Order: sequence, then C-alpha cells, then structure tokens
Amino acid sequence: MRVLLLGSGGREHALAWKIAQSSMLDELFIAPGNAGTRAHGTNVDIDTKDFQAVKALVLDKNIGIVVVGPEDLLVLGIHDFFLADEQLKNIPVIGPDKVGAQLEGSKDFAKQFMMRHNIPTAKYATFTKDTLNEGYEFLESMKPPYVLKADGLAAGKGVLILNTLKEAKAELKNMLADAKFGEASSRVVIEQFLKGIELSVFAITDGDSFKILPEAKDYKRIGEGDTGLNTGGMGAISPVPFADDTFKEKIKNQIIIPTVKGLKAEGIVYKGFIFFGLINVKGEPYVIEYNCRMGDPETEVVIPRLKSDILDLFEGVASGTLSERDILFDDRSACTVMMVSGGYPEEFQKGKQIYGLNAVTDSIVFHAGTTSDGPAVMSAGGRVLTITSFGKDLSVALRRSYETAEKIEFEDAYYRKDIGFDVL
Ligand code: AMP
Ligand code: GLY
Repeated sequence: MRVLLLGSGGREHALAWKIAQSSMLDELFIAPGNAGTRAHGTNVDIDTKDFQAVKALVLDKNIGIVVVGPEDLLVLGIHDFFLADEQLKNIPVIGPDKVGAQLEGSKDFAKQFMMRHNIPTAKYATFTKDTLNEGYEFLESMKPPYVLKADGLAAGKGVLILNTLKEAKAELKNMLADAKFGEASSRVVIEQFLKGIELSVFAITDGDSFKILPEAKDYKRIGEGDTGLNTGGMGAISPVPFADDTFKEKIKNQIIIPTVKGLKAEGIVYKGFIFFGLINVKGEPYVIEYNCRMGDPETEVVIPRLKSDILDLFEGVASGTLSERDILFDDRSACTVMMVSGGYPEEFQKGKQIYGLNAVTDSIVFHAGTTSDGPAVMSAGGRVLTITSFGKDLSVALRRSYETAEKIEFEDAYYRKDIGFDVL
C-alpha cells in the first residue's frame, strides 16, 4: 500500500512508526510530519487544510489510502471532500466524514446523540445568546461546581469548571454574548459535574463492526500532582489499573456498542477511530466527551501495545471487513512521558537544539513538536518529545522513561516526574 498520513504531532509519529512496520507497506508519506516521522517515510510540507494541495499530493504520489491524525481536518470535511471528487472517491480515508466528526466538533450534537441512544453521560442543557436568561436560570437550578462547554472546537480550551454561581454566570455571558471562544461558543452546553477518575478508551470501526484498543489514562495538567494549567497532555499510561474486566464490559455494553450501533442507525458511515473520554463514577462509566480521532499522548502508549499489522486493520476499515481481522495486544505496561518547552502551556520559546537522542536504548522517543535543521533536531512546539517505554509492570516502564529523559537535553526542557502517581 502507498499511504499518506496527515498530521505533525506525537500521535502521528507513533502512527508512522507503526505503519512503517507493516509488511503491506510500499511507501509512506507524512504531511507535514516532523523530524521524527522522517525516519519512517517521506515528509511533505503542505498545508493540510488546503484540500486541493492534499489532492495534488495524493495523485502525484499515487496514494492508495489516507490516514487522518487530527480532528480539525475531519471536522472540516476532508473525508467528504474525497468522496465528492471524481479522482479521489475510491481512495479510502481513515477518519469519519463531517457528520460523524460532529461527535467531537459539536458538544451539543454529541449530547443529543447520547440522549437518543441512552448512553450514560452528565445531564445537560444547551443555550445560545438568545436564551442567556434561561441559561442563568438553569445554572441557578444546579449545584456547584458548574461545567460550561463551548459547543465547537476550541483547541482543548473550551471547557470551564467554575466554583461559584457568580463566576459561572459571568463566564456564560462571556462565552455567549461576548464570543469568548469565537464561533465555537455561540452555543454553550452546561452540564452536571461528575466526580470520579478519568480514562480514555479507543475503538476502530468500519461503520458496522468494531475493535477495542487498549485503554489509557492521560495526565493533562502541567504540574505534578495534577495541578496547574491544562495542557495537551503531559504523559500517559496503558493499561489503566482500575479498568478491570467488569468495568471494561460495562464500557463495551453501555457505551461502545450503543455508539457504533447508533451511528449506523442514523445513517452515519463512520470509518475510523472513536475516542471515548470517560469517567468512572463509583464503578459506572460515563462519557465526558467523544473525539473523532486517536488521543495524543494516548496514541504513544496504545499503538506500541498493538501487535497486529495496523495496515491490515485500516484495510478492514476501508473495505468494511474489519470483523474478519485479528487484533492482538502486548500484555506489558507502557507509559509515555512528555518533554515540553519551559513556559508551556503559556508562552515558550522554540528553536532549541535537542541533544542525546542517539543515546536512547530502552525507550522509543516520539517527536511531538520538532523540526530538522540538517542533521540537528530543533524544538518547534510546546510539547516537544514524548518518551515511551515498556515494562513488566508500570513502575518498570516509568523507570525506563525517566532514565531516558535524563539522557535528552534541550534548553529549559520540563517534564512531570510523577506520571502514574495516582494509580501506582
Ligand atoms: P473535555 O474537553 O470535554 O474533555 O473536558 C475537559 C476536561 O474537563 C475533562 O477532561 C474533565 O476533566 C473535565 N470535565 C468535562 N466535563 C466534566 C463533567 N461533566 N464533570 C466533571 N469534569 C468534567
Ligand atoms: N489526550 C487527550 C486528547 O487527545 O484529546
């Protein structure tokens, strides 16, 4: 197969690393990719939101399948663009169409979908500028803390959790009347606060059958002990110790099956990954959010645990024969520890040279935000590198990642030293 992978983060490096191991691969292109992905294929520097540029690349390189990493391209309708184009319509795209991607692209759509299919989630109501007063009344009827969610994509920043009614009302007004998150907050979902521990569960579906991938837990806050600002993710572990078989059965029966069946029943042909952001409330799973793609940094622990050929799975998704494919996992524990630029998630500097990558022996280093300058690797984002290791248990895996982290250097590098602290 000739494969084009779209994206440039740690998730895409992990996918490229795995695709490159496939016996079915002829050639891999990554657009735009990063300094890590070039070890597994050819990086092509295009603006992936320019679908005409993607088309030109697909035709030029005779691509047979396109794998979409990030949500924005899916929400913008890249899959639909392929289906509507005479020259592209037979080239499969891994990732849902625009309607399916609304599971992530619109919180209100996702909530209504869950209501229609009886999928456990927090109680909610949705408001617009015209129903601001009803929004205030709804807040008055709830108990703190208050959860406000911008309906649309807001780069992970669109969820606010407020402790007082006064703050909640002020923020609701900010979002609806003053467009705090632009168009994304023209509608706001207010929901009941759920107390519990979160985990991420992933499935891949061809629109009919599905396979469940290993679950993971990510660490979103910048500071140790889960303190400080939210980030894109500072590390992850898989498996998740508290996700025992009973709990996973509940997730499958109460959440995954109704989701896949619900999509099909509504005529949504969903071909790709579904990310279930879940919370365990006293042993019962609830959906906090759906994403229409794999998680980052969860992919960097989930995909290394996948033993099966990923292109075989993708081919199953494309041809609607996923049920005939085998899926096997590594039983060992995996962890990943993210190295970020000092200052992230606020202001930070880029362009720092990274040293020590060649000294790594016991871990896999996935690049999250890097570029190359000749043979040198330079930081190019907030999240720079993530260090994945295996172990017979989580503590062994973590020790390996932390030993590797000591070998890698760039100016002002920072990483959390307590990944896994809450489950060890
Ligand atoms: P989201 O962008 O939907 O993942 O929300 C960001 C974070 O807000 C989640 O990872 C949770 O930690 C938190 N959160 C979202 N919804 C709720 C809720 N209903 N109850 C408690 N925490 C929530
Ligand atoms: N790690 C959470 C996400 O990818 O959205």
